[in-house]
Amino acid sequence: MSQFAFELSHRDATTSARRGVFLTPHGPVQTPGFMPVGTQGTVKGVTIDQVAATGAHMILGNTYHLALRPGHETVRKLGGLHGMSGWEGPILTDSGGFQIFSLNAINNVTEEAATFRSHIDGAKVRLTPEHSIEIQEALGSDVAMVLDHVVALPAEPGVVEDAMARSIRWAKRCLEAASRDDQAKFAIVQGGLDTELRVQCATELSSMGFDGYAVGGLSVGEAPSEMYRITAATCPALPEDKPRYLMGVGQPIDLIESVARGIDLFDCVMPTRNGRNGLAFTDLGKVKLRNAVHREDTQPLEQDCPCLACRHSRGYLRHLFIAGEMLGPILVSIHNLTYYQRVMQGARDAIEQNRFDAYREEKKRGWGLV
Ligand code: GUN
Ligand code: ZN
Repeated sequence: MSQFAFELSHRDATTSARRGVFLTPHGPVQTPGFMPVGTQGTVKGVTIDQVAATGAHMILGNTYHLALRPGHETVRKLGGLHGMSGWEGPILTDSGGFQIFSLNAINNVTEEAATFRSHIDGAKVRLTPEHSIEIQEALGSDVAMVLDHVVALPAEPGVVEDAMARSIRWAKRCLEAASRDDQAKFAIVQGGLDTELRVQCATELSSMGFDGYAVGGLSVGEAPSEMYRITAATCPALPEDKPRYLMGVGQPIDLIESVARGIDLFDCVMPTRNGRNGLAFTDLGKVKLRNAVHREDTQPLEQDCPCLACRHSRGYLRHLFIAGEMLGPILVSIHNLTYYQRVMQGARDAIEQNRFDAYREEKKRGWGLV
């Protein structure tokens, strides 16, 4: 019996949105759901209790960063990612494929391995699919991602197809290398902006019996409409009864549009990265807190938001940023994470009530997108 049951409880009447729960050894994950990013074993600027208070169920860690520093054997000795960080809920780790692609100009991919230079000290590092799984098993995450080959877009059709085919072979090697049955393995669909390649990749991976399926290689500079087109084409080629995860996405509107196309899980640095820069997400769109219009604004970011930041005025939050106080980035990160969780809770409620399309329209109106 798999410890990673995925139970779908509702399907929206007019869109492909699904409502479910993904069970892991560290607890349930309600879907559609958003995972805050904790690249280096911490969600930047936010304590684990504060992360939990935002409503997050599962958080993400990165194989690439943690293997380089402090090293996965050190993490293992500190009790794995759970013991080390104190986060008692589910954790998903990314495999390193995307970070090698995005952080390293100098990298070389062969059939055997990806080779790259450490962004910390420039040392040459080699990562194979087997090694990525070994590291993720040492980290002790609930979900491990397969090592994939991500290419920059636009790319020649042959390059995209070659990377997609390699990603399938590497996914198989990851599955064969896995030795822990308390860790789910998720495959990653590649294939650039070519729907035929995407469907082919999704179909082949689906036959291999993974616990879940991710759509990768998106949100790398293409237009949102392109991302929605690929997501819409890929989801129907994936198993109905497994979670679907859109990696590294995105803006609140991207989450809503992708849920409508059948995606269950997301992760993105946007709420925390933007929060650190003083950009807040609200139901009425984005707020740049550094702007002078907020100088004497006594209102909170959002009237009905239960977060720590919304106990304060916009004027105070602006002051914290202008004065360079570290509390500013902390509070707005917390607000943004809370906002993303509220959007997803709203999506889950709307699917249960068969009104996801109305929810989408309501959100878009608020964000000024219609
Ligand atoms: N994060 C965002 N996109 C990707 C991707 O395509 N592959 C992996 N491994 N991680 C990602
Ligand atoms: Zn708030």
